[in-house]
Order: sequence, then C-alpha cells, then structure tokens
Amino acid sequence: MKIGICNDHAGVDYKFKLVKMLQGRGIEVVNYGTDTTQSVDYPDFAHRLASAVESGEVDLGIALCGTGNGMAITLNKHQGIRAGLAWDIPIGELVAAHNNANVLVLPARFIPYRKTSAIVRAWLDTPFEGGRHQNRIDKMPCHQ
Ligand code: RB5
Repeated sequence: MKIGICNDHAGVDYKFKLVKMLQGRGIEVVNYGTDTTQSVDYPDFAHRLASAVESGEVDLGIALCGTGNGMAITLNKHQGIRAGLAWDIPIGELVAAHNNANVLVLPARFIPYRKTSAIVRAWLDTPFEGGRHQNRIDKMPCHQ
C-alpha cells in the first residue's frame, strides 16, 4: 500500500505526524505537500496529488489544508478523483463505505490531531460496501 499526502501551510504539522503514524502501520508514504509554514497556494499541491492517484503512482491520497475545502474542491476537478472531506470518525468510515473516496481530505485548523489520526485510520480500515453505492458512483461523471 502506497499513500500520497499533500498539504498547504495550514497542514504541515499534521502531515508530518500522519506520515509517522502511517509508516508505523507499514504503509509507504509519498509526500506531495509543502514542508514549511510559509504561505502557499493549495491547488499547486492538490493537483500533484490528484495526478499521482490518477496515474497509479500511489494507491490512495490524503490532503490537508485549513478548512479542507480548498483541497477538496481542487482535487474533485480531476475525473479520476473522489475526494471526501471528513471531520469526525463516522464520516471517515462513511466516506470509505459509501463514497469509496480515493482521497481523504482533512480540515487541519478545525480538528485536533488525535481526531485527524483516528479519522485516517477509520477511512483506511473501512471497506467500500459496493451495491447501490457503486451505482451512485457510476453516475458521478459529468457528461455535459
Ligand atoms: C489558507 O489560509 C487557507 O485558505 C487554506 O488552508 C484552506 O483553508 C483553503 O480552503
């Protein structure tokens, strides 16, 4: 399992902690984010991560910014990405079980690190349910 992670300046601290947590679980992590708190533009990093997931360079992605919305909006411009924002553990489970999110997005300025880490573990440990949820995912692409 290889996970790509990206962040802007608001997510640096949590990014480093999550990398350690994931590596502790035997997961290989590729860093597509910024490593300093100097102000940057989140789309520069979101597009890198999205391309890595779409090309198969990594299996899944995690993205962090202040609210999570900038990353989620940018990531979801990519046809091969289903980026889901999660701010609590049940949402982390449901974004895997129902939405089969291939990128988990976290609002680093609005939840404590412990919750962030628990959400990531919930997302990784929850299988996609398929069935009616797959039908809904099949209807997501925009054909207009
Ligand atoms: C950065 O100040 C902030 O705008 C960014 O981290 C994010 O919240 C955007 O959606």
